[in-house]
Formats: sequence, C-alpha cells, structure tokens
Amino acid sequence: MSDESNPHEFGEADFRSTVHSFEFWFEAVEGYLHGRPYGVSAATKEAELTERQRQALITTLCNYCVGETAALDASSGMIGFAPDRHAKIFLATQVVDEGRHLEVLLHRMAQLGVAAPEAEIEKRANRSLLKFKDRLLEFVDARDWEASIFAQNVILECLEFTVFRHHAGTADPVTAEMLRGIVSDERRHMGFGENDLGRRLIAAPHTHDRLYKIKRELDTLVLDTFSEALGELGVPHAERPDLEGDYLAAVARLGFRS
Ligand SMILES: [Fe+2]
Ligand SMILES: [Fe+2]
Repeated sequence: MSDESNPHEFGEADFRSTVHSFEFWFEAVEGYLHGRPYGVSAATKEAELTERQRQALITTLCNYCVGETAALDASSGMIGFAPDRHAKIFLATQVVDEGRHLEVLLHRMAQLGVAAPEAEIEKRANRSLLKFKDRLLEFVDARDWEASIFAQNVILECLEFTVFRHHAGTADPVTAEMLRGIVSDERRHMGFGENDLGRRLIAAPHTHDRLYKIKRELDTLVLDTFSEALGELGVPHAERPDLEGDYLAAVARLGFRS
C-alpha cells in the first residue's frame, strides 16, 4: 500500500479492501457525528417556523423517510447476494448509515410535534417515490445485483444527494445541519455504486444497454417525484430549483448519461 492516508493512491485490490471497511467508515463519520446527537450540535438553535412552513417540512421529512427506508431495506437485502465479501462489508456500513438517517429524520419529526410518524408517512408519501421504492425492492427480491446497485447506489443516491443539498441551502438551521451530515454519507454510497458498476461495465459492455433501459424507467419516477413534491409544497414554477437538471448532471458525473 503506497499511502495509507490517500485512498486514491491505492491499487484496485487495496482500494477495495480499505474503502470497503469499517475502519474507513468510522474515520469518515466520526468527524461529523462526534458531539452531534441526532446529527445536530447543541449550539444550533431552532428558528421560529410558521404553521405552513412546519407542515411543509413535515411532508418533506415524511418523503425523506420513504427514501431512507427504501435504502435501508434494499441495502440490507443486498448483503445476501453481494458478489464478494468486501461488497458485503461495505453494504453493512451502508445499512448502519441508512438506519441512522431514518433515526435522525424521525427524531426531527418528533421535534416538530409529529406524534404518530408511521401514520403521517402513510398519509403524506409521494406516489412516484413509493413506486420507485417498489421497483427497487423488486430488483432486490430478484437478487439482481447490477439492477439493484444501479437503482439504489446510483439513482436513489443521486436523487437524495440532489434534494438534500438543495434543501440544506434553504432549510432552518437544525434541519440544514442534519441534512449536511446525511449528504456526506450519500456521497460515499454513490462512490461505491460508481466504482462497482464502473468495473462491471468495463468487464461486460453489454450491461450498458440493460442499465440504460432501467435508467429511462426510473428517471421518469424520479422526475415525477420532484414535480409532485414541489407542487405539494406550493412552490411556484418560476421559483422551483432545477432539481431535474442537477439530478441528471449527478447521474451523468457517475458515468451514466441520458
Ligand atoms: Fe440515506
Ligand atoms: Fe444512502
């Protein structure tokens, strides 16, 4: 191993055994979890929210819970058919991350006065996002590694990365700090998908066509999710952030163009 501090200088085998390890994971999360119970430091103060803002935030958090639960269910299921042991170890770290994300989101909802989060999620969940979740879990049930890793670690992670980053820029300080911690994890999950599929695409170029077909189907659900969510929040068309453009750019950066 050439340099223990810089994973980019590792050879392929060393890269995988190092990055796909709890050691690496712990170093990565320690910086932003230490001293931040539920992802937020004590010094960060609550801002006053209007009732309309509070309701909109609760709806948004309910949808984040749908996405995080999908990732928790999918990543834990994928351990059973991951192609090798390093991938299993990485997925185990991802399961812990997604469980933590769900926990901090539920905690935030409780702070906002939500007494029955399950019922609230049921009531407020976005239909396109629920369809996306079903599709992802179908790939997992079929033990289809390429489709599962693509749908979860590329598409779903890019969706979450895009939305959380935008939202962190406009949210109240407590929600913003919580989201910034989550984004750091999602970046790591995207890196895993990019690395795994990158190697697979070199080894089996015909995989491209299959993944592009899945991409076309899932992109539609992702884009519907954005417009449904922004519509529910009452954001006028002219003021809507370009989530679609940012999402497609994030997927393209991982090597999957439209
Ligand atoms: Fe997550
Ligand atoms: Fe994730």
